[in-house]
Amino acid sequence: MTAKIIDGKLVAQNIRAKLKEETIKLKEKGITPGLAVVLVGNNPASEAYVKMKVKACGEVGIFSEKHHLEVDTKEQDLLNLIESLNQRKDIHGILVQLPLPEQIDTTKVILAIDPKKDIDGFHPTNIGNFHIGMPAFIPCTPYGVLKLIETTGIDIAGKDVTVVGASNLVGKPAAFLMLQEGATVTICHKLTRDLALHTRKADILIVAVGYPGLITADMVKEGACVIDVGTTKVEGKLKGDVEFEEVKEKAGWITPVPGGVGPMTITMLLYNTIEAVK
Ligand code: GUN
Repeated sequence: MTAKIIDGKLVAQNIRAKLKEETIKLKEKGITPGLAVVLVGNNPASEAYVKMKVKACGEVGIFSEKHHLEVDTKEQDLLNLIESLNQRKDIHGILVQLPLPEQIDTTKVILAIDPKKDIDGFHPTNIGNFHIGMPAFIPCTPYGVLKLIETTGIDIAGKDVTVVGASNLVGKPAAFLMLQEGATVTICHKLTRDLALHTRKADILIVAVGYPGLITADMVKEGACVIDVGTTKVEGKLKGDVEFEEVKEKAGWITPVPGGVGPMTITMLLYNTIEAVK
């Protein structure tokens, strides 16, 4: 079997077009959605992500402002900035780009963001509400993964889903979303003894570890839907966690890297920012 390619760029474009219409309607009511993006230090990957996020806001009509702080910024100064953004009426979403420099306690920073403006869905209030089925911001990357799977028409309910990676940002929320959709979910991590045993039984396989080429064809069930969240630069090129060329000959559906999950993360950030207005 040769897999159908899930085109993340196209799915992202379609959602962004709808979001643009929504911002036009909101502006007619006198409301411009506003996002504050906070970057601390000069991590090149973070700088690139922030630039893409700001640009994407402009494209759908969301007002955005970037706060670029020095690498040696004191924790209290960042907390003060967040508090001032919490108070602003024109700012509906606050995003503090991670990772933060080591003198800053990431948990304290996440806790400082008003949960109603936490469009990343990292605040424990949002995580808790999400887990008990109350309205909440859902973290952007796993939310994007769900949207991509939905475009395949696969009914997630009752399926066996294996998530490889148990991070707070992707693995855990992705697994929980799949559980909410009615899947039977297995989460694999660093201490998993027989990874292939779990990946081979998956109707839907979600991989988010940042280990290029970890998943080979022999680890994938025939016809499975394979979602590759990994993006690692190898010799100047982005490489996923899945050996794309061989796995696409066995899977039913597969996301490429780049052009799969990547474009969806920023799209769902835009989506959550507009939800924050509502
Ligand atoms: N760093 C890597 N991914 C993310 C993300 O989704 N949000 C934030 N704030 N930082 C990140």
